[in-house]
Amino acid sequence: MAKLNPFKNKDVILIKDFTRDDLFYLFQKADKIERMPERDRICLLNGKILGYLFFEPSTRTRLSFEAAMLWLGGRTLGFAEPKVSSVEKGESLADTIRTVENYVDVIVMRHSKDGAASFAAEIASKPLINGGSGTEEHPTQAMLDLYTIIKEKGSIDNLKIGLLGDLKYGRTVYSLLYGLSKFNVEVKLISHPILRVRREIFFDLEKKVKISEHDNLEEILPDLDVLYVTRIQKERFPDLSEYERVKSSYNVNLKILQKAKDDLIILHPFPRIDEISPEVDSSPHAKYFKQMLNGRILRSALLASILDVPF
Ligand code: CP
Repeated sequence: MAKLNPFKNKDVILIKDFTRDDLFYLFQKADKIERMPERDRICLLNGKILGYLFFEPSTRTRLSFEAAMLWLGGRTLGFAEPKVSSVEKGESLADTIRTVENYVDVIVMRHSKDGAASFAAEIASKPLINGGSGTEEHPTQAMLDLYTIIKEKGSIDNLKIGLLGDLKYGRTVYSLLYGLSKFNVEVKLISHPILRVRREIFFDLEKKVKISEHDNLEEILPDLDVLYVTRIQKERFPDLSEYERVKSSYNVNLKILQKAKDDLIILHPFPRIDEISPEVDSSPHAKYFKQMLNGRILRSALLASILDVPF
């Protein structure tokens, strides 16, 4: 019997709201959509509209959601920055959502405030996808990160996974950590001491997954199967002098990678600043551009599942 669609009409706010089985459902659908002949794929979301509300800048999340919708024959409307909407005149988030939901079938929203996505989902009568909320979560990034690990390594269980960089403010980190906690993995957190994972979250994760904290990338690198690199999130520091102290703390380059396993894969949600040297891009370790392509595939499967079209 076919598994019931766990994403049907669902909001996607936190990765915690989905089980390991739900994630595998999505990954199988993503594989299926990728293999689908164009003539079938292009009809899947015919007549459906995605609304995108981006209160913060984005390249990959917005464009890959748009690309996903167009890839399945749907359409999109929205704003890529609040300045061009009536938010600039003082309109509330609640009124913006109540307006847009009249025009679309599903909404993706990015916002600088923690809790904004949950708040908007409570207001919206249409499914709402969190495209990144403050320092809180970016659940669809974690879904595509996990999907990329499975595609590249065959499985997630039994891997040693290092997360490097800004582990305090990086929302992709929190979503990925909670996603990884559904698997049997060993997680190594590598950061400057002032950029450690926030304590309440670390203590919660400790109960769910084998996790440890480190300063030195070179010591940990030989052990790793996956290295997930993040940029230092300058815009989230309350004090810029603190940012100046920690910026450029780490740089992944070909020299350091001589210590890595041959089959280590490197992921990064991007944008990148200086934490991975461009010389790494052409090495067999670099999978971050494939990760971006997987973003469109995974988000296509997610949209088609939320809108519950048969495929
Ligand atoms: N990974 C990610 O969220 O990238 P953007 O900020 O460009 O959307």
